[in-house]
Amino acid sequence: MARITASVYTSHVPAIGAALDLGKTQEPYWQPVFQGYEFGKQWLKDNKPDVIFLVYNDHATAFSLEMIPTFAIGTAAEYQPADEGWGPRPVPKVIGHPELASHIAQSVIQQDFDLTIVNKMDVDHGLTVPLSLMCGQPEAWPCPVIPFAVNVVQYPVPSGRRCYNLGQAIRKAVESFDEDLNVQIWGTGGMSHQLQGPRAGLINKDFDNAFLDKLINDPEAAASIPHIDYVREAGSEGIELVMWLIARGAMADVAGGAKPKVVQRFYHVPASNTAVGHLILENT
Ligand code: DHB
Ligand code: FE
Repeated sequence: MARITASVYTSHVPAIGAALDLGKTQEPYWQPVFQGYEFGKQWLKDNKPDVIFLVYNDHATAFSLEMIPTFAIGTAAEYQPADEGWGPRPVPKVIGHPELASHIAQSVIQQDFDLTIVNKMDVDHGLTVPLSLMCGQPEAWPCPVIPFAVNVVQYPVPSGRRCYNLGQAIRKAVESFDEDLNVQIWGTGGMSHQLQGPRAGLINKDFDNAFLDKLINDPEAAASIPHIDYVREAGSEGIELVMWLIARGAMADVAGGAKPKVVQRFYHVPASNTAVGHLILENT
């Protein structure tokens, strides 16, 4: 059977992708950001999964504001990096895993979550920047990736609680897939940031670090945070953090198993307008 072995959490910032693509990682501004991912890059090489289930948000790229699925699962064989206005990022195409993705769609929909099935889409910085942070600049990404897009761009957005419950359903779905696959689930986006309006530039280190503490030690409490608190405390784009709860809900302890092991925790400000947070939790 397939198993979820670990969860990875990381912010996505388009300027991080640009810094990497333009060879600026050693500049004083960016060096501490990329330094914080050196451990994770080695860890991913040492703990190479068969598939990454990558929870991210599209930024009105694949889904325009004309049509906005709350939860969308990619069932395609491959995905091209999107053109977000500056041409596509020079990164490898993303190879999907249609068999596992279709199985997860079947199982999760039968567990009463309404997913949108996506057979064709391009993937924006929400998906490619986390891959770049964890993999650097390879010729090909290390394994197939199942993109799972969450609407955190246009209200109404799903609650943290619903995301956490969805993570539990995804875990059951993975564990009912017959093939022996090592699956990692990644929760991306966040941490605190606000890109527009009078509070543009908002960062809240206290909220972010308390969120990291809760996510690790008391995910139930993290799942209870109402959506309005993210917006008040972590800024309008801080709501991206609900995606981390999907990954956390898929960990073993939530289903009665052992607590995960924290193998990496990193937090850094500034990176563009966003507080960068990164965690790796292993199922033991
Ligand atoms: C920035 C952060 C985001 O999450 C995003 O989608 C776009 C820009 C930023 O910090 O600049
Ligand atoms: Fe974003």
